[in-house]
Order: sequence, then C-alpha cells, then structure tokens
Amino acid sequence: MGKLLVITDLHVQAQGETIIGIDPAARLRAALGHALATHPDTTNLILTGDLTHHGDPAEYAELKRILADYPVPTTYLVGNHDDRENFIAAFPDTPLANGFVQTSFDLDTHRVITLDSLDQSSTNPIPHSGFLCGTRLDWLDAQLDAAKGRDVLLFIHHPPVGIGFDAMDLIGLRNGDTLRAMIERHGNVKHLIAGHVHRTISGSIGTLSFSIFKSPCHQMPMIERSRDSSLSTNEPGAYGILFLRKGQVVVHSEDFEIAVDGSAAQHDPYSG
Ligand SMILES: [Fe+2]
Ligand SMILES: [Fe+2]
Repeated sequence: MGKLLVITDLHVQAQGETIIGIDPAARLRAALGHALATHPDTTNLILTGDLTHHGDPAEYAELKRILADYPVPTTYLVGNHDDRENFIAAFPDTPLANGFVQTSFDLDTHRVITLDSLDQSSTNPIPHSGFLCGTRLDWLDAQLDAAKGRDVLLFIHHPPVGIGFDAMDLIGLRNGDTLRAMIERHGNVKHLIAGHVHRTISGSIGTLSFSIFKSPCHQMPMIERSRDSSLSTNEPGAYGILFLRKGQVVVHSEDFEIAVDGSAAQHDPYSG
C-alpha cells in the first residue's frame, strides 16, 4: 500500500512571527515530526500551497530550513499567499510547466498531477481568488490525455467547487467549471485534493470526489454565512494521509496536536 502525506496551508513566516498567536513554523515542524513517527512508510509529501504567509524570500528560506532534512520526497504547490517568483528562486529544482508550478509523476498505483492556481495578475478581479489560464489548462489537458488508463490524483490549492462558506467561495477557483468539465471529459481523475479553506471537508460534484484538509496552523471557523475570509481560530492543526491501493483512495485527516499514541489508547469492551 502506498502512503501519501498531504500538508496544506503552512503559512510559514520569518522566525518569531505568529498568526493569531500561533507560530506556523513550530506547527509545521510538529506536523512533520508526528507524520514521520506515525507513518514512516510514507512515500511522498505534497504541500498544497500557501507555503508562506506573505510570499517573502525570508519565509521561503525558513521553509527550506524546516524541510532540509526531511527524508520524504516533497512536491510543492503554490497558493494565493505565495509569490511564484520568490518561490522558484528559493526552490530552483522544483519542476515547472511553462513557468508554472505544475508537475506530474507516477506512484505505484496512481499518477499524481499538481496544478498552479495562483493568480498574481493585475487583472485578478477578486484578490486571493485562483484561476487557471489557457496555458495551464492546455498542459493539464495533455497530461490527462497522457494518463489515459491510469488513475489520477489531482492536487490544486483553490477548490474548484463551492464549499458552502460564502467568503471562501468568493475567493475559490474562478474557472472551476472549466476545470471540472475537463476532468469529466477525461474520466480518469479518481480524487481531487485541495487546500485554501483551512478546514476538513469532503464531498463530490458530478463524478468528482474531493477532500480538503485543515492547516497545521490556523483554521477557518464554521460560520457559513460569513463574508470575512480572514476569520481564523486556534483549533488543533492537522495533516492528511492518503492510503493508496490499486483502484482505491482512502483519505485520513490527523489532528496531530491532540492525537493520542496508539499504545496509550484505552480499551472499551462495548465498542465495535
Ligand atoms: Fe491558506
Ligand atoms: Fe489560500
């Protein structure tokens, strides 16, 4: 069985800086340490964007320091809090597609495809919303074509579906309909993983199933009608773990800060 670790919305800042009192670097270190101890057989780590809080070079340098000795091959996506140019400068070995932070690679059971939904253009009508331009969509079209007969896992920072939070839906992927139509046409995307919302969410739309994970740092409160996408709470941080078998994806979310080691679990004789 393959195991894929997903950490989203790291929001790393320069040393000593906090978000609503939380140190994102400390939380990321805790998540990485917990995942390594609990799942030492993880084959890949995928970071689904908002790697840093402001996209500053000092923040990418801090992210690089944190991940320097991590023994799991790591794939990076960018989100709306990132800066593509600064990211690429800090991580020059990251594979790119036509200058965008997109890549594709094979696991034993699945093909992974990652997308760059960051819209840094001056014409972005809704700051922080995401968009896939023609260049990125054409690349994906060709990748899905090349993956004919393979089961694809698709990763993107901005969810391409409304998740029911007004403020976050406003800054989601503006052309999610176009992406979903392409996915439906190819028929080989078995699951989509997104970030951006800072909350554990899963669902389906048409034939597409999706999962969204909490951040290791700050979380989005459950306020459905809120118009404020900057609301944050200090709920426990989490990461995602995908258990992969041929034709199968099982998605776990682990609240690593409150997780109890299995050896310390208590026995309930009446539980099933
Ligand atoms: Fe985020
Ligand atoms: Fe985001």
